[in-house]
This record gives sequence, C-alpha cells and structure tokens, in this order.
Amino acid sequence: MNVRRVEIKSLATYVPPRLLTNADLEKMVDTTDEWIMQRTGIRQRHIVDPGVATSDLAAEAGKEAIRRAGLKPEDIDLIIVGTVTPDMLFPSTACLVQHKVGANRAWGFDLSAACSAFTYALTVGSQLVAAGNVKNALVIGADVMSSIIDYTDRATCVLFGDGAGAVVLAPSTDPNVGILDFEHMIDGGGGAALCMPAGGSRMPASHETVDQRLHYVKQDGQTVFKFAVRNTGEICERLLARNQLTGHDLDLFVSHQANKRIIMSAADRIGMPEEKVVINIDRFGNTTAATIPLALNDAVESGRLRKGHLIMLTSVGAGFTVGSVLVRWGI
Ligand code: UT7
Repeated sequence: MNVRRVEIKSLATYVPPRLLTNADLEKMVDTTDEWIMQRTGIRQRHIVDPGVATSDLAAEAGKEAIRRAGLKPEDIDLIIVGTVTPDMLFPSTACLVQHKVGANRAWGFDLSAACSAFTYALTVGSQLVAAGNVKNALVIGADVMSSIIDYTDRATCVLFGDGAGAVVLAPSTDPNVGILDFEHMIDGGGGAALCMPAGGSRMPASHETVDQRLHYVKQDGQTVFKFAVRNTGEICERLLARNQLTGHDLDLFVSHQANKRIIMSAADRIGMPEEKVVINIDRFGNTTAATIPLALNDAVESGRLRKGHLIMLTSVGAGFTVGSVLVRWGI
C-alpha cells in the first residue's frame, strides 16, 4: 500500500499527576463506584490542575518520544496533534507544541476526529512520511477533557480523563515492520449524539450559552454505545479480511478506551480472547485522543507488546468517526 513502509520509532505518554477517583465523584454527583465500574470499567482518571492545557501534556509526551527515537527536536519535520480540546481555537495546538519542544524545522497542524484522532493522525502522518517529503513525524493524541466536562452531569463526568501520548514515525529500517494498512469511516449523521454545542461558529459564546451549560460535552450514551459496538467490530473485520487475516493472526488488540463492554464486544467479534486485549480504562478513563498511545505504553511496559508483534488499533468517537490500523510493532 505505502510508497515506502513507515514505522513507529518511539512511543511516550504523559498524564497529569492528580487523580479523580470514583470515591471523589460519589461526593460530587449522585453516582456510585459500583455503577461506574459495572457500566464502564473505570476506577480513576488523571485530571490537570487549573491552568494546565493540552499543549502542556502534548509537549511532555512529544519531548520524550523524540528523545526515545534518538532524535533531536530539530530532526522533526512534521507535527500532528489530534485533539478536541485545543488550548484555544487558534493558533493550532501543533504550533504551540512545536514552540514548546523546540522543533524549529517542523510544520504541522491539528486533526479533529475526537476519539479517532490518534488512528487518523497515525494514518495521515504515515502517508506523508511514505510519500517521501517528510522524514520524521511527531504524531500526538492529547486531550484535557476535564476542561469541557460538566461536573454536575453524572452521565458524562464519570467517563473522561486527561492525558497525552506521542509517537515518532519514520521510514522503516526493517521492511517487515511498520504501519501495514488502515480502514477508516465517518458517519456524520451521528453528530448530535456526542458534541459540545456552543463555542463554535454555529453558537458563539454568550451569556446564554454559558447559563445553559452548552460549552460542555453532551452525549446520548446509548446511541453512541450501539453505534460503537456495531461499527468497531465491523471495521476490524474489513481490515483483517482485506489482508487475508483473522483475529487469530493478531498478537494484541489495542482499542480506544471508552467502555470495557464496547472493547470486549469488538474483540469477541474478531475472535480475540481477553488475554490479547489491552484494557487500561480502569486507571485513565476515556482520554479521547490519548487512549490508544496510553494503552500501547501499558502493553510495552508490561511486556505484552514486543518487537515483531502484529497488532490492531481501533477507535470510535464523536462524528461519528471510526478507525482501524494494522501495525507490525518494531520497538
Ligand atoms: O469515546 C467516545 C465514545 N463514547 C462512548 O463510546 C460511550 C458510549 N456509551 C456508553 O459507554 C454508555 O452508554 C454509558 C457508560 C455512557 C452509559 O451506560 P448505559 O448502560 O448506556 O446507561 P444509561 O445511559 O442507559 O443509563 C442507565 C441508568 C439511567 O437511569 P434510569 O433512567 O434507568 O433510572 C441513568 O440515569 O443509569 C443512570 N446513570 C447513572 N447512575 C449512576 C447514568 N449515569 C449514571 C451515573 N451513576 N454516573
């Protein structure tokens, strides 16, 4: 598929130190640890201190990814930041990150695909490296979801956390290793099921939008849940079939972490047993663009993900957006 194969040369993540536990949330809204664990699998999330923004988390992860790739900031040619919580509408978070990490030769941009931002950014970044005019790309998924969560709404505030993950992409040194294929889709008809209604050009900020709490995440959980269960499994099946593979050929299934039940239903559908599925939603909650790198990092640190493994990344999120990427791991 690619003009030249592209690999993930390094991976690094960053989460803010402060924890928000289910016990903390029990004191804030009418919920219980039991409900949250049973319905979502989440036990705790990391939350920024006031004043800390997405570019701060992204830059921490980005700097470390550059170091682990054995590169200097000036070796980076391209920065893509996947996020729905940019520091501000403009300039892009990629520009802010470029300045913070000192990647003074890089160009870049933000990519808006909600929870699919990391899979989409990986695809876009790898295609640009494959085309030959970008050598080293820094791809980051980062979100400060706590900045757009209504901590009086029990239906959403228990779900999300803050975090960042970064990878450096470069031409593969081993031709067997790298990003092998991808499959993505969007379904714009699902827009109203998960959105932040105000603050854009449709409904600019006003006293009314603030009074009506419209600058927060609104979600019709069941609609999103049903869409996610149906489409995540389906897209993984399509990508596997196109590559003459089945779930049995995969060493690890690394999904966006929104709900343990959604992850397991997709895994079941492609025949992945639980021991080959990465679940870390219990410790981080749904960090939107950061979930997949955080899950990859856990798998590497625990020894479950090793060089040569064939893995499938998959995501589903607001839009709706759905993504799936097949990778032969090389680090
Ligand atoms: O990453 C972006 C993509 N997002 C997702 O993938 C999220 C997809 N959706 C979900 O994961 C699930 O729909 C949720 C976890 C958000 C909700 O789980 P659910 O099993 O669909 O619950 P529900 O919305 O149907 O609510 C069931 C009950 C309701 O009470 P009644 O009407 O049955 O009396 C809710 O009011 O649970 C109630 N409820 C809660 N109770 C305690 C909703 N939130 C809470 C809560 N604590 N935090």
